[in-house]
Amino acid sequence: MKWNVIRIAAVAACTLGSAAASAQSVEVMHWWTSGGEGAAIGVLKKDLESRGIQWIDMAVSGGGGEAAMTALRARAVAGNPPTSAQFLGMAVVDWANEDFLSDLTEVATKENWDRSIPPALQRFAKFKGKYVAVPVNIHRPHWLWMNARIFNDNGLRPPTTWDEFNATADKLKAKGILPLAMGGQPFQEATAWESVVLGLGGPDFYRKAVIEADPASMKSATMLKVFDQMRKLRGYVDRNFAGRDWNLATSMVIKGDAAMQLMGDWVKGELIAAKGTPGKEVLCIVAPGTQGSFLFNTDFFAMFKVGGDRRAMQLTMASAVMNPTFQETFNLAKGSIPARSDVPMDKFDACGKQSAADLKAATAANHVYGSLAHGHAQPAAMQRAYLDVITKHFNSDMSSKDAVEALAKAVVAAR
Ligand code: GAL
Repeated sequence: MKWNVIRIAAVAACTLGSAAASAQSVEVMHWWTSGGEGAAIGVLKKDLESRGIQWIDMAVSGGGGEAAMTALRARAVAGNPPTSAQFLGMAVVDWANEDFLSDLTEVATKENWDRSIPPALQRFAKFKGKYVAVPVNIHRPHWLWMNARIFNDNGLRPPTTWDEFNATADKLKAKGILPLAMGGQPFQEATAWESVVLGLGGPDFYRKAVIEADPASMKSATMLKVFDQMRKLRGYVDRNFAGRDWNLATSMVIKGDAAMQLMGDWVKGELIAAKGTPGKEVLCIVAPGTQGSFLFNTDFFAMFKVGGDRRAMQLTMASAVMNPTFQETFNLAKGSIPARSDVPMDKFDACGKQSAADLKAATAANHVYGSLAHGHAQPAAMQRAYLDVITKHFNSDMSSKDAVEALAKAVVAAR
């Protein structure tokens, strides 16, 4: 259905607003349903409740938020959006463009958000100069997580290049240990793929191939190697990976059923929820070859244009999410680092501290880019074009040559 049709229907019904929410409550759509994610959203819920705002939960499970976005669209089409929703960067732009989102500039100006939100995030939080979303975190999707006991017992060192990764995985496989825990969902495969693109091609190649969607880069020798490496990864996962959630793959690494996982730092939230210490039972290292660069994804909360009686609650929620103490507590549970650049990092674990320091260095080197898998590199239709090919390749015996051809074609078609 066309967005303008949706918009007409939604505007007509929006004034009525959601039946569930009232002037004293916020109904919040999100996809944070794993152990660590649930703990983090609990921090927000508690914070709002302490301000006299009742929380109405609209959780739609499914990592990466694909299912949540589908559910949200259905609500918006029916003219009954929630008070607030979780969005990834490009989705904020999309929904703002369709005039669904409330202007938060009033509170942003009062609290001088311009000073504390890094420019890379302002790009998504602002639409036509007005704030329409509040960033809550900065996640880094390109990490490698390793079971410390398996690595110690087998005298292995964390791999820092893809060749080292393959050698390590081969050794593990030969000993009958599952090298890689993975789930089978497009966002998980794309999370691994973008780490391989950055790791094998470097930051300039990532910029060209992913941010600029340059067709020549798709057909390059480097991209062939990227798909070769993806085929290698496929050989390191178990037979039951299809449809598995990312957090179940994480628990395989925590339990020692698998040695490694390529995933973002929301993994840390699972470790913490399982009473572990990131960097101790499960080691963290940036994905092979990606040292010096920083891919990011940020979760934003945006407010829908709903009845005027709920505007005060929306502005209070926006201000609460930006509160520095809240950002510290929330991100300690979530595994990410604060979106505000002025929150002290002393309470964060070693991986969190590394993330903050790496972000600073990569910013200075101009090597900070949005994640494709997590909605910060391309608008939805173009992102889908990439993910379809990545998933198709990973789940079949498609050759690297056919994959690069398909990718080049899909990207041109999605322009
Ligand atoms: C990301 C999101 C994270 C994390 C992950 C898995 O897209 O930004 O907060 O929850 O999905 O669900």
